Amino acid sequence: MLSAHSLALIDKEVIKYPAEQKQSAVMSALRIAQIERGWLSKECIEYVATYLEMPAIAVYEVATFYNMYELAPVGRNKVTLCTNLPCQLQGADAIAAHMQAKLGIGFGETTADGRYTLKEGECMGACGHGPLCLHNNHKMHDHLTAESVDKLLDDMK
Ligand code: FES
Repeated sequence: MLSAHSLALIDKEVIKYPAEQKQSAVMSALRIAQIERGWLSKECIEYVATYLEMPAIAVYEVATFYNMYELAPVGRNKVTLCTNLPCQLQGADAIAAHMQAKLGIGFGETTADGRYTLKEGECMGACGHGPLCLHNNHKMHDHLTAESVDKLLDDMK
């Protein structure tokens, strides 16, 4: 279900914890699985549960609680724009409108070519640098302007 490379990465997370607490690596394991598969299918979640010797329901609880985990397919580029108040006060609304107009989709939608998914996000702890977004959960882009958004989106393959 997961590649040898991903399993090796999960093993590196598992050894950070006592042997009887390998389930502590569940968030990392789900992150690694999602990077490989693009999203977390039921089968993938159950595979992670088996690998970490956990009840599948416990892994579902984690996967459904945190919004960085995707339980359905998303585009190759997931753009999560923070729309909480401090970012709103710095123009997040206008950036949201610009992104939606440029991509022709709303929040929670994916372009027909599978290139982009646009999501609305909660505070990312960098309020002084808004408006900002995350690309595929890992790369933050801050002080967004219409011009920087155009370049950012155009550069995403
Ligand atoms: Fe956007 Fe905090 S409100 S990062």
